[in-house]
Amino acid sequence: MRIVETIETKRDGGALSPEAIEHFIAGYARNEIPDYQAAALLMAILLQGMTDDEIQALTLAMVRSGETLDLSDVAEIIVDKHSTGGVGDKVSLVALPAVAAAGLPVGKMSGRGLGFSGGTLDKLESIPGYRVDLSVTEFKDQLRQIGLVLTGQSANLAPADGKLYALRDVTGTVPSLPLIVSSIMSKKIAAGADAIVLDVKVGTGAFMHTLDEAVALARAMVQVGRSVDRRVAAHISDMNQPLGRAVGNSLEVIEAIEALSGEGPGDLVSHSLRIAGELLYMGGLVEGLEAGMQRAGAMIESGAALQKLRQLVVAQGGDVRYVDEPSRFLPAEIVETVVASDGGYLTGMEAAEIGMAVVALGGGREKKGAPIDHRVGVVMHAKVGDEVAADQPLFTVHANYEAGKRAAVARIQAALRFSDDPVPSLPLFYDRIA
Ligand code: URA
Repeated sequence: MRIVETIETKRDGGALSPEAIEHFIAGYARNEIPDYQAAALLMAILLQGMTDDEIQALTLAMVRSGETLDLSDVAEIIVDKHSTGGVGDKVSLVALPAVAAAGLPVGKMSGRGLGFSGGTLDKLESIPGYRVDLSVTEFKDQLRQIGLVLTGQSANLAPADGKLYALRDVTGTVPSLPLIVSSIMSKKIAAGADAIVLDVKVGTGAFMHTLDEAVALARAMVQVGRSVDRRVAAHISDMNQPLGRAVGNSLEVIEAIEALSGEGPGDLVSHSLRIAGELLYMGGLVEGLEAGMQRAGAMIESGAALQKLRQLVVAQGGDVRYVDEPSRFLPAEIVETVVASDGGYLTGMEAAEIGMAVVALGGGREKKGAPIDHRVGVVMHAKVGDEVAADQPLFTVHANYEAGKRAAVARIQAALRFSDDPVPSLPLFYDRIA
């Protein structure tokens, strides 16, 4: 089989056979196919698309490029969750302890921030000592002992994705539905969970900007998961403004602890309960989504979910005093609140710009592998649809240097839209695909 023929077939709009796809993925993972041919094929896929069968074959070839975790000796059902990425998305830190506290094991390998979108690993690393490099043995032992693991992606699972993702990042081939589906689902399938809940974000702070794109992505991911007998449900959720109030690593951990203590912002709590409820339903613990949401809510009310977060932090080597007393998180050097100059209604936000303002403060990476500053970020005080009066606080910037603060203030101000006419508030969810 010649890779150039595979490239030509896709360039001309043809469908690739499972053998051609396997040859490409296995050959690229073994360094037998050079980057320039892989890049040409990725661009042809981006431009021509793929059929459902091709997407399935691509995903499974990526799964076969590495190891697959077998968790059947740990528990009957293990659940996992994935968000396609957004701004202020700390749902995993709230929903997963609630699910585990209800008795359903959750084993999750999370990622780092990507562009404007934050990453759960970076957030968790704000807790001094917290380890995100568990071995497979540690992963399984902890899952057995406390029913909750939140660690980094093992390099042995779907290694073709790691290589392809790096190439996509520098060849303009990230925003391709078949490539996104195979990238996400190969990692989820290899990580061994029986049931997977996908939080597919749409809006100005998401990789998908239209509802149609998000629904198509969700459907394709659900279909691939089903083809390998995983239970998969996807929720299409709004990402036209940050979720909750906080954006930035330790600020988000603090907000998640507040939510687990019954004091979190309403949108974050409702969103997390829905994802947790779906996980409990998919995992067979309750009869329906509504019952799952109630069970998850009860776990937060009783304090069991917060206790589960404590157990997680202890198990992974973190200093649990930070969970017990969030005031221990070191504040940034400069904390400045910006107020509204006039009265009006907040009608919209460029949420990705808010995410990028935090990245520029040092809260995310502009270069792969760069260190990040966990203390910096922004706290939004208004939501789309809110009426704001002159001099009312709009947002607070947490920065470690003056010029950075000034740039963040200007960028966030430019990202907010106001009008004299009221607009409705934004929904949390648009659709559920299962
Ligand atoms: N997240 C992933 O893991 N892969 C993609 O392609 C996009 C988002």
